[in-house]
Amino acid sequence: MTQDELKQAVARAARDYVADRLPVGAILGVGTGSTANFFIDEIAAIKDRLGGTVASSEATAKRLQGHGIPVLDLNDVAAIGIYVDGADEIDASMAMVKGGGGALTREKIVAAVAETFVCICDASKRVAVMGRFPLPVEVIPMARAHVARELAKLGGTPKLREGFVTDNGNLILDVHGLSITDPIGLEDHINQVVGVVTNGLFARRGADVLLLAGADGVQTHLR
Ligand code: A5P
Repeated sequence: MTQDELKQAVARAARDYVADRLPVGAILGVGTGSTANFFIDEIAAIKDRLGGTVASSEATAKRLQGHGIPVLDLNDVAAIGIYVDGADEIDASMAMVKGGGGALTREKIVAAVAETFVCICDASKRVAVMGRFPLPVEVIPMARAHVARELAKLGGTPKLREGFVTDNGNLILDVHGLSITDPIGLEDHINQVVGVVTNGLFARRGADVLLLAGADGVQTHLR
Protein backbone atom coordinates (compact mmCIF):
# COMPACT_ATOMS: atom_id res chain seq x y z
CA MET A 1 0.00 0.00 0.00
CA THR A 2 1.15 3.55 -0.63
CA GLN A 3 1.46 6.00 2.25
CA ASP A 4 -1.63 7.81 0.98
CA GLU A 5 -3.58 4.55 0.96
CA LEU A 6 -2.53 3.97 4.58
CA LYS A 7 -3.63 7.50 5.51
CA GLN A 8 -6.94 6.91 3.75
CA ALA A 9 -7.43 3.64 5.63
CA VAL A 10 -6.71 5.16 9.03
CA ALA A 11 -8.94 8.15 8.24
CA ARG A 12 -11.81 5.79 7.49
CA ALA A 13 -11.17 3.89 10.73
CA ALA A 14 -11.22 7.18 12.65
CA ARG A 15 -14.52 8.15 11.01
CA ASP A 16 -15.98 4.84 12.21
CA TYR A 17 -14.52 5.40 15.69
CA VAL A 18 -16.20 8.81 15.86
CA ALA A 19 -19.50 7.48 14.50
CA ASP A 20 -19.48 4.72 17.17
CA ARG A 21 -18.23 6.68 20.20
CA LEU A 22 -19.12 10.36 19.86
CA PRO A 23 -22.66 11.03 21.06
CA VAL A 24 -24.93 12.56 18.42
CA GLY A 25 -24.76 16.35 18.68
CA ALA A 26 -21.39 16.40 20.49
CA ILE A 27 -18.43 18.49 19.35
CA LEU A 28 -15.51 17.00 17.42
CA GLY A 29 -12.01 18.48 17.43
CA VAL A 30 -10.21 18.24 14.11
CA GLY A 31 -6.45 18.25 13.57
CA THR A 32 -4.19 19.51 10.82
CA GLY A 33 -2.07 17.87 8.16
CA SER A 34 -2.35 15.42 5.31
CA THR A 35 -3.75 12.56 7.41
CA ALA A 36 -6.24 14.91 9.06
CA ASN A 37 -7.27 16.07 5.58
CA PHE A 38 -8.22 12.51 4.64
CA PHE A 39 -10.20 12.36 7.90
CA ILE A 40 -12.02 15.61 7.12
CA ASP A 41 -13.08 14.25 3.75
CA GLU A 42 -14.34 11.07 5.46
CA ILE A 43 -16.44 12.82 8.11
CA ALA A 44 -18.39 14.70 5.47
CA ALA A 45 -20.46 11.50 5.34
CA ILE A 46 -21.40 11.75 9.06
CA LYS A 47 -21.66 15.53 9.37
CA ASP A 48 -25.33 15.44 10.34
CA ARG A 49 -24.44 13.52 13.53
CA LEU A 50 -22.01 16.24 14.69
CA GLY A 51 -22.92 19.17 16.91
CA GLY A 52 -20.10 21.01 15.18
CA THR A 53 -16.33 20.98 15.02
CA VAL A 54 -13.42 22.94 16.45
CA ALA A 55 -10.54 23.32 14.00
CA SER A 56 -6.86 23.33 14.96
CA SER A 57 -5.86 25.61 12.06
CA GLU A 58 -7.22 28.00 9.47
CA ALA A 59 -6.51 25.39 6.76
CA THR A 60 -8.56 22.77 8.58
CA ALA A 61 -11.41 25.22 9.17
CA LYS A 62 -11.48 26.01 5.46
CA ARG A 63 -11.54 22.35 4.45
CA LEU A 64 -14.30 21.56 6.96
CA GLN A 65 -16.38 24.49 5.74
CA GLY A 66 -15.84 23.35 2.17
CA HIS A 67 -17.75 20.21 3.08
CA GLY A 68 -20.51 22.23 4.77
CA ILE A 69 -19.37 21.10 8.23
CA PRO A 70 -19.93 23.79 10.88
CA VAL A 71 -16.78 25.14 12.58
CA LEU A 72 -17.20 26.67 16.03
CA ASP A 73 -15.07 29.07 18.07
CA LEU A 74 -13.46 27.15 20.92
CA ASN A 75 -14.60 29.88 23.33
CA ASP A 76 -18.21 29.06 22.51
CA VAL A 77 -17.79 25.37 23.26
CA ALA A 78 -18.05 23.80 26.73
CA ALA A 79 -16.57 20.41 25.82
CA ILE A 80 -14.99 18.49 22.98
CA GLY A 81 -15.73 14.78 23.05
CA ILE A 82 -13.05 13.50 20.69
CA TYR A 83 -10.06 15.16 19.02
CA VAL A 84 -8.64 13.42 15.95
CA ASP A 85 -5.22 14.40 14.63
CA GLY A 86 -2.08 13.02 13.04
CA ALA A 87 1.46 13.09 14.40
CA ASP A 88 4.97 13.32 13.07
CA GLU A 89 6.23 10.73 15.55
CA ILE A 90 4.64 8.73 18.36
CA ASP A 91 6.39 6.55 20.95
CA ALA A 92 5.23 3.62 23.08
CA SER A 93 4.05 5.94 25.89
CA MET A 94 1.75 7.67 23.35
CA ALA A 95 3.80 10.86 23.54
CA MET A 96 4.04 12.59 20.17
CA VAL A 97 6.03 15.08 18.18
CA LYS A 98 3.65 17.30 16.25
CA GLY A 99 3.80 20.56 14.36
CA GLY A 100 5.22 19.53 11.02
CA GLY A 101 2.40 21.59 9.55
CA GLY A 102 3.07 24.43 12.00
CA ALA A 103 -0.27 24.17 13.80
CA LEU A 104 1.14 22.85 17.08
CA THR A 105 -0.15 25.58 19.40
CA ARG A 106 -3.77 25.40 18.31
CA GLU A 107 -3.51 21.62 18.20
CA LYS A 108 -2.28 21.59 21.79
CA ILE A 109 -5.11 23.87 22.88
CA VAL A 110 -7.80 21.73 21.24
CA ALA A 111 -6.17 18.57 22.62
CA ALA A 112 -6.20 20.06 26.13
CA VAL A 113 -9.95 20.55 25.98
CA ALA A 114 -10.77 17.20 24.40
CA GLU A 115 -11.87 14.27 26.52
CA THR A 116 -10.26 11.73 24.18
CA PHE A 117 -7.32 12.29 21.82
CA VAL A 118 -7.32 9.87 18.90
CA CYS A 119 -4.04 9.90 16.99
CA ILE A 120 -4.19 8.67 13.41
CA CYS A 121 -0.97 7.59 11.74
CA ASP A 122 0.59 5.31 9.22
CA ALA A 123 3.07 2.86 10.69
CA SER A 124 6.11 4.95 9.69
CA LYS A 125 5.29 7.41 12.51
CA ARG A 126 5.73 4.86 15.32
CA VAL A 127 9.26 5.12 16.78
CA ALA A 128 11.17 3.82 19.80
CA VAL A 129 12.80 7.19 20.56
CA MET A 130 11.50 10.47 19.13
CA GLY A 131 13.74 13.17 17.71
CA ARG A 132 14.57 12.04 14.22
CA PHE A 133 11.77 14.34 13.05
CA PRO A 134 12.88 17.89 13.94
CA LEU A 135 10.99 19.21 16.96
CA PRO A 136 8.94 22.33 16.07
CA VAL A 137 8.92 25.20 18.56
CA GLU A 138 6.61 28.19 18.03
CA VAL A 139 8.27 31.45 19.09
CA ILE A 140 7.34 35.10 19.41
CA PRO A 141 9.25 36.81 16.56
CA MET A 142 11.30 39.21 18.73
CA ALA A 143 12.55 36.25 20.83
CA ARG A 144 13.72 34.13 17.89
CA ALA A 145 17.47 34.51 18.42
CA HIS A 146 17.26 34.18 22.21
CA VAL A 147 15.14 31.02 21.99
CA ALA A 148 17.46 29.55 19.34
CA ARG A 149 20.45 30.03 21.67
CA GLU A 150 18.59 28.34 24.52
CA LEU A 151 17.52 25.43 22.31
CA ALA A 152 21.11 24.93 21.11
CA LYS A 153 22.11 24.40 24.77
CA LEU A 154 19.93 21.27 24.74
CA GLY A 155 22.20 19.70 22.16
CA GLY A 156 19.94 20.19 19.16
CA THR A 157 20.34 22.42 16.12
CA PRO A 158 17.48 24.91 15.78
CA LYS A 159 16.66 26.07 12.25
CA LEU A 160 14.21 28.79 11.37
CA ARG A 161 11.38 27.51 9.16
CA GLU A 162 11.96 29.89 6.27
CA GLY A 163 9.02 31.83 4.84
CA PHE A 164 6.56 30.43 7.36
CA VAL A 165 4.31 32.33 9.77
CA THR A 166 1.89 30.47 12.05
CA ASP A 167 -1.83 31.17 12.22
CA ASN A 168 -0.96 33.09 15.41
CA GLY A 169 1.54 35.38 13.64
CA ASN A 170 4.62 33.68 15.10
CA LEU A 171 7.71 31.82 13.82
CA ILE A 172 8.74 28.17 13.99
CA LEU A 173 12.19 26.92 14.99
CA ASP A 174 12.68 23.26 14.01
CA VAL A 175 15.16 21.58 16.33
CA HIS A 176 17.23 18.92 14.58
CA GLY A 177 19.35 16.20 16.14
CA LEU A 178 17.55 15.60 19.44
CA SER A 179 17.16 12.19 21.03
CA ILE A 180 14.03 12.54 23.14
CA THR A 181 14.37 10.04 25.97
CA ASP A 182 12.41 12.15 28.50
CA PRO A 183 9.50 13.64 26.53
CA ILE A 184 7.69 15.16 29.53
CA GLY A 185 10.88 16.69 30.94
CA LEU A 186 11.85 18.18 27.58
CA GLU A 187 8.36 19.49 26.90
CA ASP A 188 8.33 21.26 30.27
CA HIS A 189 11.88 22.57 29.92
CA ILE A 190 11.37 24.14 26.49
CA ASN A 191 8.06 25.67 27.52
CA GLN A 192 9.90 27.51 30.33
CA VAL A 193 12.09 29.44 27.87
CA VAL A 194 10.83 33.01 27.64
CA GLY A 195 9.55 33.72 24.15
CA VAL A 196 8.41 30.17 23.47
CA VAL A 197 4.68 29.93 22.79
CA THR A 198 4.74 26.16 22.93
CA ASN A 199 6.67 23.23 21.56
CA GLY A 200 5.57 20.26 19.50
CA LEU A 201 6.03 17.65 22.20
CA PHE A 202 2.66 16.27 23.23
CA ALA A 203 3.80 14.23 26.22
CA ARG A 204 1.91 15.71 29.17
CA ARG A 205 -1.21 15.39 27.07
CA GLY A 206 -0.43 12.43 24.84
CA ALA A 207 -2.81 10.36 22.79
CA ASP A 208 -5.42 8.19 24.49
CA VAL A 209 -6.02 6.07 21.42
CA LEU A 210 -3.71 5.36 18.48
CA LEU A 211 -5.13 4.11 15.21
CA LEU A 212 -2.11 2.85 13.30
CA ALA A 213 -2.34 1.84 9.67
CA GLY A 214 0.06 -0.79 8.38
CA ALA A 215 0.18 -3.46 5.71
CA ASP A 216 -2.01 -5.72 7.91
CA GLY A 217 -4.76 -3.13 8.38
CA VAL A 218 -5.52 -0.60 11.10
CA GLN A 219 -4.52 -1.58 14.65
CA THR A 220 -5.96 0.12 17.74
CA HIS A 221 -3.60 0.89 20.65
CA LEU A 222 -4.76 2.33 23.98
CA ARG A 223 -2.74 4.45 26.41
C1 A5P B 1 0.40 19.74 12.00
O1 A5P B 1 0.92 20.87 12.59
C2 A5P B 1 0.98 18.50 12.58
O2 A5P B 1 0.99 18.40 13.94
C3 A5P B 1 0.41 17.26 11.95
O3 A5P B 1 -0.55 16.66 12.75
C4 A5P B 1 1.52 16.33 11.75
O4 A5P B 1 2.55 17.07 11.13
C5 A5P B 1 1.14 15.14 10.89
O5 A5P B 1 0.96 15.54 9.57
P1 A5P B 1 0.76 14.53 8.41
O6 A5P B 1 -0.52 13.80 8.66
O7 A5P B 1 0.70 15.39 7.19
O8 A5P B 1 1.95 13.62 8.40
